[in-house]
Amino acid sequence: MTAKNQGGEPPRKTVFVESLEVNSTITSIFIVRDKEIRQQKNNNQDYLRLTLGDRTGSVAGLSFSDTDKNWHTFSQGDYLLVRGVVKEYAGRAQIKLTRVQPLPEDGVDARDFLPSSGRDAGEMYDELLGWVRSVEDPHIKTLLETIFNDEDIAARFRMAPAAKAMHHAYIGGLLSHTLSVIGLSHRVAGHYGSTAVNRDLLLAGAMLHDLGKAWELDWHRGFDYTDSGRLLGHIVEESFLVDRYIRGIEGFPDELRVQLLHIVLSHHGTYEYGSPRRPKTVEALILHYVDDLDSKCQAMQDLIKAEAGQKGNWTSFNRNLSRYIYKKRYVSGEGATEEVATGEAEPPRVPDEREAPAESEVTAEKDPVSEPAAAPDLPQGKLFD
Ligand SMILES: [Fe+2]
Ligand SMILES: [Fe+2]
Repeated sequence: MTAKNQGGEPPRKTVFVESLEVNSTITSIFIVRDKEIRQQKNNNQDYLRLTLGDRTGSVAGLSFSDTDKNWHTFSQGDYLLVRGVVKEYAGRAQIKLTRVQPLPEDGVDARDFLPSSGRDAGEMYDELLGWVRSVEDPHIKTLLETIFNDEDIAARFRMAPAAKAMHHAYIGGLLSHTLSVIGLSHRVAGHYGSTAVNRDLLLAGAMLHDLGKAWELDWHRGFDYTDSGRLLGHIVEESFLVDRYIRGIEGFPDELRVQLLHIVLSHHGTYEYGSPRRPKTVEALILHYVDDLDSKCQAMQDLIKAEAGQKGNWTSFNRNLSRYIYKKRYVSGEGATEEVATGEAEPPRVPDEREAPAESEVTAEKDPVSEPAAAPDLPQGKLFD
């Protein structure tokens, strides 16, 4: 296997994660989203455990022999040409690798490796600006216009994912999540009415609550945290940014500044999930819940979609949601249910959500989104945001 084919061109990606077929032998290019060298329990021999990805998803890749002596020649974020056999473990595909070969960055088309939102980023940004125009409070409106008309902010916000892997983990995911949280906030504000909820304040909180992720995350070669993201986190990043912009607006009421910053600072809900204050206003409470709702609802949908092609009615165990998800949709009429996935109508057995799959010695499926590197400051089982 060489990095160049006979015509001198770099090898192109031909097989994507979403189309992997169990028991097929594949040769394809993936980006290394995670890399570990572990020890087999039965013989203490090293084995390589990779999370390989492309724009359609991620798959585990395992190698038990460093035949080419190159396990140490690549790391997370590098591109690999791999050969292997697709197997199934715990309901998920994984690749038993027979060869791996690092590739230079110019040997691939980067678009094959970054999942992106199905919607046009410019169109989504216009929708965001439409929400800004709907704000009536002059101070809040000026603040939002100043922030979202900043070209550097706009460029980052159009591209950023909302998470490394947990939810909306794709190019444009932050904007997509933000629009969803804005829409939910707008509806909840309408439900309770203007005497109970300051809609402008709530919508501003929705627009700004994850803006710091545009600096917390890097999306140029796969998705990962930036140094400042690991050191500060998005809540601190966006709080500094919002405070800085507010101080540049003459006459911005200090009480409004404090209330808006409170919404941003408290949106994770509790201290252990990274908020220095718990929600103490109605607007902050609403934002916390709609943010949590959107991130979990999207994560559940992403999981169902990712495993739609696999047999059975249940997804694999998801450590962040701490449960299996029932992926069969009920369809009204004739009392029938419709399976989202193709394949067998019934799984071998119904899993108990209290039991996570046992770790196999060498084929244990470790959910990449719950690894410490993905959320170094948060306890497992939480959080999506
Ligand atoms: Fe969020
Ligand atoms: Fe957040």
